[in-house]
Amino acid sequence: MRILSGIQPSGRPHIGNYFGMMKPAIALQDEGEAFYFIADYHALTSTHDPAVLRANVRELAIDFLACGLDPAKATFWRQSDVPEVTELSWILSCVTPMGMLERCVSYKDKIAQGISPSHGLFAYPLLQAADILIFDSNVVPVGKDQKQHLELTRDVAQKFNDRYGEDLLVIPTPQIREATATVPGLDGQKMSKSYDNTIDIFEETEKKLRKKIMKIVTDSTPVEDPKDPTDSYIVQLYSLFASEEEVKAMEDSFRAGGEGYGHYKQTLFEAIRDHFAPMRERREELVNDTSYVDGVLEEGAKRAREKAREVTDRVRSAVGM
Ligand code: ADP
Ligand code: TRP
Repeated sequence: MRILSGIQPSGRPHIGNYFGMMKPAIALQDEGEAFYFIADYHALTSTHDPAVLRANVRELAIDFLACGLDPAKATFWRQSDVPEVTELSWILSCVTPMGMLERCVSYKDKIAQGISPSHGLFAYPLLQAADILIFDSNVVPVGKDQKQHLELTRDVAQKFNDRYGEDLLVIPTPQIREATATVPGLDGQKMSKSYDNTIDIFEETEKKLRKKIMKIVTDSTPVEDPKDPTDSYIVQLYSLFASEEEVKAMEDSFRAGGEGYGHYKQTLFEAIRDHFAPMRERREELVNDTSYVDGVLEEGAKRAREKAREVTDRVRSAVGM
């Protein structure tokens, strides 16, 4: 079983990325042949500074490895090191009705966020389909926001097979993580780089991490009064890091009153700091050993490219090339 997923290098990864994508991907590397990549072709739709793109790719590679991606188990590469995906994307575009792409909401959402409406942004889901189909992927674990792109991938693969021959492309099964609650940001909206409300996995210093956590939005209930834990972002974030008992203790304390929100933020700060401490140590090692990191991506690209070549050759021959 081949498991495939990708993540865009669009800035320092945050806790939402960690729980939404990186941690589940790392957990799945024991379940099958894991194929994970850094989607830098996709990032080109929104990152236009070459130095920034290069730095973001390296940063994400280091962070993913530090968090537990194991290159002995998973193939890990940079998307642009397998340029065959762009060729497959073109071939697929010729079986894809315009309406199918026009219906994709991500394009409209991204324009609303201020990303310039390029053809690349419009064709983004088709490149994603190529990413998936070029490795005969069976299972694609993604967050809810990617559901439509996976449906498109399946539809495009089916259209291709209908036109050129059954079984040419493997129809992938999405594994949508409905359960992963959306991780809230400092302001309570979905944590996202575009909302400037993130807590990064690796904040530069403890002081910065603490300062951010102190900014989490709360209501203005006085210190001594009981507080409602049910819609507190502090509790929601804490529950990602703490045991059931620990969360319950915080909830009980909320209801009892007598502590200010600053106290709970301090507890949350310590939980986050401690959770990522071993990964932060590993990260320090990787930062100082970039040739190892580059080597992992190179080796991954070599393996990924072999498989991509095989599927591309199959497709080229099927369409008459
Ligand atoms: P951002 O919104 O910060 O730009 P992306 O859209 O690049 O993040 O998301 C990358 C991955 O992280 C996706 O798989 C997405 O589902 C996941 N993800 C991002 N933000 C969150 C969040 N707040 N909660 C859960 N998962 C998230
Ligand atoms: N579009 C995905 C995101 O923004 C990233 C991605 C690109 C991807 N290609 C993929 C995810 C292939 C899964 C499979 O999160």
